Amino acid sequence: MAGGPGRILIREDEIAARVAELGETIRRDYAGRAPLLVAVLRGAVIFSADLIRAIPLPVTLDFMSVSSYGADTRSSGVVRLATDLSVPIEGRDVIIVEDIIDTGRTISYLRRNLATRHPKSLALCVLLDKIARREVEVAVDYVGFAIPDEFVVGYGLDHDGLHRNLRDIAVLERDPAP
Ligand code: IMP
Ligand code: MG
Repeated sequence: MAGGPGRILIREDEIAARVAELGETIRRDYAGRAPLLVAVLRGAVIFSADLIRAIPLPVTLDFMSVSSYGADTRSSGVVRLATDLSVPIEGRDVIIVEDIIDTGRTISYLRRNLATRHPKSLALCVLLDKIARREVEVAVDYVGFAIPDEFVVGYGLDHDGLHRNLRDIAVLERDPAP
């Protein structure tokens, strides 16, 4: 069982400052190009909305969703494609935008899936990285924050669909055992 959002881990202003830096880095790395950002629904919606506005290039945005079975605070490791892109990505400079990497299973599935479509380049930008939990090795090109092994909510991240609308990122409080 879990309670609501507790201790704030990353404040709204810290997120905004980091997103601006990521945007600037991507602008430099992709100068003269028109990257396609692929945001992973639904957790990356808020991050991607802020990130595209921090990249002064002719970016486009598309969405994908995957489902991993189970609604608990741990993903099951079984990932499948739920909603596909609406545009072909062959020959495009693609940047996958994800909210968080935990075991790495979701993102490594997505990376492999998109790689088979022959983009010109494929990069990965994640807001949060829970490095200690990694089970599958993934190359991450842009990371917002490395965080400890705690379940977090807010700024798009949910628990059972809730708390995405928090402006800060907070640690999910667990109910004391009965
Ligand atoms: P992975 O496949 O284990 O890397 O899990 C990644 C997915 O699990 C993310 O896309 C999130 O949807 C979810 N997830 C993992 N950790 C958290 C968390 O702390 N808060 C909210 N969602 C999380
Ligand atoms: Mg997610």
